[in-house]
Amino acid sequence: PMSAITVTWVLHDGAQITAAVAPGTSMMQAAIAANVPRILGDCGGNLACATCHVQVAPEWASRTGPATDMEDPMLDMTEVERGPTSRLSCQIIADPALDGLILHVPA
Ligand code: FES
Repeated sequence: PMSAITVTWVLHDGAQITAAVAPGTSMMQAAIAANVPRILGDCGGNLACATCHVQVAPEWASRTGPATDMEDPMLDMTEVERGPTSRLSCQIIADPALDGLILHVPA
């Protein structure tokens, strides 16, 4: 089996939460498991709520890629206004290439 990757969420106040995340797990699921505040995942990862909004650290944005066509309109409905690297974290799935990923949680 592929080993877990390490993901760090940076909160608005600068606090960080780091967790081991199994490949195949969405970053929304992982955030909830790690008790990351403000990541709610109300719709269960179905692109219907925008409560899993994160801003990917700029140096990671090329590896996570841009929002998908289905995801992009939902990013206009986030509580905190979207930024250039905004994603819905239910659509970012852990894989080995994302080991070390850093996600910023909007205020
Ligand atoms: Fe609802 Fe991601 S959990 S859009």
